[in-house]
Amino acid sequence: MRILVIHGPNLGLLGKREVDIYGKGDLEAINNSLRKLAQGDGAELDIFQSNHEGEIVDKIGHAKGEFDGILINPAAFTHTSVAIRDAIEAVGIPTVEVHLSNIYAREEFRHKSLVAPVAVGQICGFKDKSYLLGLSALIGIINKQ
Ligand code: DQA
Repeated sequence: MRILVIHGPNLGLLGKREVDIYGKGDLEAINNSLRKLAQGDGAELDIFQSNHEGEIVDKIGHAKGEFDGILINPAAFTHTSVAIRDAIEAVGIPTVEVHLSNIYAREEFRHKSLVAPVAVGQICGFKDKSYLLGLSALIGIINKQ
């Protein structure tokens, strides 16, 4: 089982960025805990972070036939990117959307996700645990297929 993990813009700054909202851990700590969980469940991860919308669109576009699932935190692009949403829809790979913060308890512009309607589901508000919950849900879905 192969899973593509995508971290969107500014997530490379985790640990240094608004720690009360996003937590103290950095991206490497999140990636390490994801790898540990994946290993126990027999999944292989390809982890990718980009601040560039087009790079994320390309990565998703090339995922067909390569990956069984996508775990994505589209970060700010969640609220703006029709292109990322369309790429997920186009490849038809089961996708779980995650956020560290509870986007519905924050500014109004964060309340809308363009990605959620094409995702299998969304998990938000549990800081780094959102990723782990999202990955286990995704593995469960792939195993059922
Ligand atoms: C985020 C929430 C987004 O609104 C924000 O732009 C981010 C991070 C989260 O994980 O809570 O960069 O996706």
